[in-house]
Amino acid sequence: MILALETSCDDTCAAVVTSAGEIRSNVVASQGLLHARYGGVVPEIASRRHLELVDAVTSDALERAEVGLEEIERVAVTRGPGLIGALLVGVSSAKALAAARGLPLVPVDHLHGHVVASTLEPDAIEPPYLCLVASGGHTFLARVDDPSSYRILGQTLADAAGEAFDKGARMLGLGYPGGPAIDRLAREGDPSAYDFPRSLPGRSDAGARLDFSFSGLKTALLYRVRELGPEEAGRRRPHLAAAYQRAIVEALAARTAQALDQEDLDRLALGGGVAANSELRRRVEELSADRGVALWAPELALCTDNAAMIAAAARFLEPLPYPEYLGLDASARVATPATAAVP
Ligand code: KG4
Ligand code: ZN
Repeated sequence: MILALETSCDDTCAAVVTSAGEIRSNVVASQGLLHARYGGVVPEIASRRHLELVDAVTSDALERAEVGLEEIERVAVTRGPGLIGALLVGVSSAKALAAARGLPLVPVDHLHGHVVASTLEPDAIEPPYLCLVASGGHTFLARVDDPSSYRILGQTLADAAGEAFDKGARMLGLGYPGGPAIDRLAREGDPSAYDFPRSLPGRSDAGARLDFSFSGLKTALLYRVRELGPEEAGRRRPHLAAAYQRAIVEALAARTAQALDQEDLDRLALGGGVAANSELRRRVEELSADRGVALWAPELALCTDNAAMIAAAARFLEPLPYPEYLGLDASARVATPATAAVP
């Protein structure tokens, strides 16, 4: 029985998962509304809120799982990457929970969690597989041959896909987070009304890295909105949203298709909050069907930040015995050494 904590950004998360990958509870206290008025996550506010919530969220996860702390065999926690103050709350709490009972602790790389979320039951994916993770903080394609690690085949060179959605939404005068707002509005628009750049940087022949870049696209939207002026841009908002969304989705889909072909993989998993996007889901289903690829698009609660995915990764990693982890630090950038080989 694993108890996992995840506090890398603005969600306070705790979960109880068995070593066989059965989710017993997966609790998320979202701070979304707290940050909405600032148009983005404010790190200091996030840390303070984590501190207020972490004990209650942990108790809630244990209660919903109907297990006592005495039944927990290991504690897992996101060590990074993320907001350092936010991570520290999770790491300190996990250390305290584990140390109080002399339990082993598993520090987990947040990205590894996203990559192996689909290995949870009841419909666990088996390696080898490709995983597309697109969230507000990250966008990358990873190959998994063994769930204890992953290899990044390509990633965003600047903004993440979710960030591109959020910034695009801001330019269109929509609220934060922008992804769901663009997704909704785009249904009323014509995606071919504007021809926004697809932004696939670098060479795209076999063996090349499969990177993304959404900065040209953002600039294109900004210029188009300026050109139209506030009134006309307001009127044409559904078309702008649809075309902008189409450009992001096509870039993600094109690189995913390329990665499947290049790596000769027939299983694909999705992760990250952008996996909620209806057009992305449709496109990915389409390209998977075309290639005879089996698709794992887990329920949204497992795509967005959550602690069950951190427990999922912890099942495949070597735990640190008590008291070895007492000096463990959170890390804003660096992944745990066992994972994240970037070529
Ligand atoms: O994974 P997530 O909950 O948090 C992290 O960033 O780790 O992802 C949040 C991101 C936000 O940028 C949000 O705008 C985007 O996911 N998002 C969407 C949709 N729902 C959430 N983007 C596009 N379409 C959606 N339906
Ligand atoms: Zn995440």
